[in-house]
Amino acid sequence: MNALQKELKLSIENALKLNKSKVDSDRWRLKYHVMPPIGWLNDPNGVCQYNGKYHLFYQYSPLDAEGGLKYWGHACSDDMVKFEDQGVKLYPDRADDVHGIYSGSAFVTKDKIHFFYTGNVKKSESYDFVNNGREQNTIHAVSDDGYNITKKHTVIRADQYPQGFSTHIRDPKVFAKGDMYYMVLGARDINSKGQVLLFQSDDLKRWNFKSVFAGPYQNLGYMWECPDFFTIDQTDVLLISPQGVKPKGHLYNNVHQSGYLIGQADFPKGRFEPKGDFIELDCGFDFYAPQTFCDSKGRRIMWAWMGLPDIENDYTNPTVQKGWQHAMTIPRQLLIKDGKLIQKPLEEYQKLRKDLLESNIEVKGKTEQKGLSGDVYELIIDFEKIGEVLQINLREDTTISYNSKDRLLSLYHKKSGYGRTMRKTEVERLKKLQIFSDTSSLEIFVNEGEKVFTTRVYPKENQTKISFDGQGKLKLKKWELV
Ligand code: FRU
Repeated sequence: MNALQKELKLSIENALKLNKSKVDSDRWRLKYHVMPPIGWLNDPNGVCQYNGKYHLFYQYSPLDAEGGLKYWGHACSDDMVKFEDQGVKLYPDRADDVHGIYSGSAFVTKDKIHFFYTGNVKKSESYDFVNNGREQNTIHAVSDDGYNITKKHTVIRADQYPQGFSTHIRDPKVFAKGDMYYMVLGARDINSKGQVLLFQSDDLKRWNFKSVFAGPYQNLGYMWECPDFFTIDQTDVLLISPQGVKPKGHLYNNVHQSGYLIGQADFPKGRFEPKGDFIELDCGFDFYAPQTFCDSKGRRIMWAWMGLPDIENDYTNPTVQKGWQHAMTIPRQLLIKDGKLIQKPLEEYQKLRKDLLESNIEVKGKTEQKGLSGDVYELIIDFEKIGEVLQINLREDTTISYNSKDRLLSLYHKKSGYGRTMRKTEVERLKKLQIFSDTSSLEIFVNEGEKVFTTRVYPKENQTKISFDGQGKLKLKKWELV
């Protein structure tokens, strides 16, 4: 441990002593989601399974609930459901990562986890300028046991990136194809177009620039963060989080977007050819920077940051006052259906279910059922009939509403949205909703994961009622999650 790391470690320990009880007393702390112990959390990093344990590292700013110097925090689990925080694992303690351990990934070999992350270095006050002022180095670090990370070594220095790109090149994700290792990196070129760069290596240590893997594409933003590439059922998928995509009707309404392209990757060539348009992964307010891994059962599992980079108009997350901000989504399995990705909550989450309540409900105007309420629950609704409009009120203050004329499904927050109000998406026919509610979040899976709305929500303590309005007939199953 070097002197800088010692100093940083001490300041985090002191902050924990000072702030942990205030943070823990917040009634909006979540019950089954990964959260920062104190301070701020953003992207999932280094997600993997190693020696039987699941590891989820995360962008962590322990000293500032509104985001500041970035470390990697670490949470670990035996079952993907209960996670235990393991503390800070990567510190910004070297010249080439001194202003932040930025996002990156894990690559598991027989006896090691190899981590690759971006070391952020601000060169001057103008560090936000695009073409100078910062360096983003790609750094390799290793763990033998999954818990201790050592041997940081810069494998791509900022001056080794190809010509024609700005200094915004970051978020390495590493994978193998045949006997070669590949790394995708998110990039902004000098014309402010987002692209993905591809590097290759035969030993995970020496990396050479191979090609521009994807982009630029029209109307897809100035910078692509957090790329991830994988194949499901012979279908190649590229995840990206583009910044600067303009809103278009119900699409792209958050400050930055996250989504995917389906296509075909040619590795000798090093090029990904998309077969269709960019598709958003989420329709709600809080979803960004997803990252995936493949578990030992062959499932492609994704986490995302249940939050967004910038504070949106009129919105301040109320947990900031309590000394913390943001969380991870629940992990979701990705599958391909009809040429698109669908998302399924991991079946492991069924083990949290308790006290099943089943009911058939006919909705005729305002409809309530005695005792139907909760804050930490899973709710499955199968729709038998839907009139012109059908509304479901959750936590009293948030409404999911389906309009069968224009075929729009909307999510609407009143006061508990703290300034965020409406998101909509097209759904040809609403058949099913599977809703995961936690003390201050909702994840709403539509028609077996065709679409998902992810959002944080901050109702008052007694706002727990579930009720209906409009016309329809539905079958409902609800469990407490404990
Ligand atoms: C995405 C992101 C990444 C970067 C990290 C810094 O949210 O901006 O591109 O590595 O966060 O925290």
